[in-house]
Amino acid sequence: MKKNILIIPGDGIGQEVTTWGKKVLEAIADKYNHDFIFDEAIMGHTAIEAKGNPLPDETLEKAKASDAILFGAIGHAKYDNDPTAKVRPEQGLLKIRKELGLYANLRPILLFDELLDASSLKPEVLRGTDILFFRELTGDVYFGEKKRSEDNNFASDLMNYHRYEVERIARKAFDAARTRRKKLCSVDKANVLETSRLWREVVQEIAKEYPDVETEHMFIDNAAMQLIKNPQKFDVVLTANLFGDILTDEASQIAGSMGMLASASIGDSTGFFEPIHGSAHDIAGHNKANPLASILSAALLLDIAFGLQEEAKAVTNAVAEALKDGWRTGDIANASTPADKILGTKEMGEKVLAYIK
Ligand code: IPM
Ligand code: MN
Repeated sequence: MKKNILIIPGDGIGQEVTTWGKKVLEAIADKYNHDFIFDEAIMGHTAIEAKGNPLPDETLEKAKASDAILFGAIGHAKYDNDPTAKVRPEQGLLKIRKELGLYANLRPILLFDELLDASSLKPEVLRGTDILFFRELTGDVYFGEKKRSEDNNFASDLMNYHRYEVERIARKAFDAARTRRKKLCSVDKANVLETSRLWREVVQEIAKEYPDVETEHMFIDNAAMQLIKNPQKFDVVLTANLFGDILTDEASQIAGSMGMLASASIGDSTGFFEPIHGSAHDIAGHNKANPLASILSAALLLDIAFGLQEEAKAVTNAVAEALKDGWRTGDIANASTPADKILGTKEMGEKVLAYIK
């Protein structure tokens, strides 16, 4: 199979972890005789520094021309502490999601048994958990009109949804539920928000097309609680952009660490694959970041963008093998992990590569 893959490392630890996602794709190409052609582009703080623009035109052009994109992370502490900055790294990520029509963000909460003790939750609460989040990605309060009064005493972000935006992601989520345990939980705040009432109405309608899927509606506040009280009961979770952003960070604790969670953003064109974690500037450049979320994002890319299930499985299995042999990065180690089992980014990347080969 011949494919063009665009690598966008982005900012902070994005640079280090994406190196390993890419190396894994190269190893898979080698082993299974595929021809993956790589190109690279800049985005975020890195692109602001180089071009004054968090999403330069050439990055967007390369993205549109590629068959799949592997992205790292975005952001810089400098902006987090300066709310007045007009040009911000995150604008690059939001714009590319919008421009590529990536309206569905799939975030699997993949729990490796070996990491049951890496979470702050009890192993018996976690065991067997397998959740697939569908987070809407190009609508909601993220993209509504933003305002600030001239006297600086008032600000507003408009939360809105169109019917078609809810319909298309709901269909994708129901289709996925059909291939899994046939349960779908739609999360909203329909007791308060008009957008959520539209959301619920549309999901109820689409649910009629899927009588074989057991559909449930839950308010976001309750869902946030149920998710850590009883994570095993969830299968597919469908939710809006902001709620999904928050719930999936919470859910990462089920998998042990943000450093373990991969995501796939899909929709109208080229698929975009990225860890859910941020740029973690505090540890960037120190060979401390967990490369597994990027490696697992590469697995999602193989599976979803190219339909290469066997190759994707080979990557996930290699990660499982490394964990089974006791190898950990700092974020997934605990008090009983022997010091010589705790690896840096590079060493963990090399372990996974060795298991693939
Ligand atoms: C994510 C991130 C982004 C989001 C930020 C960096 C804009 O937190 O992908 O979850 O909020 O969508
Ligand atoms: Mn987030």
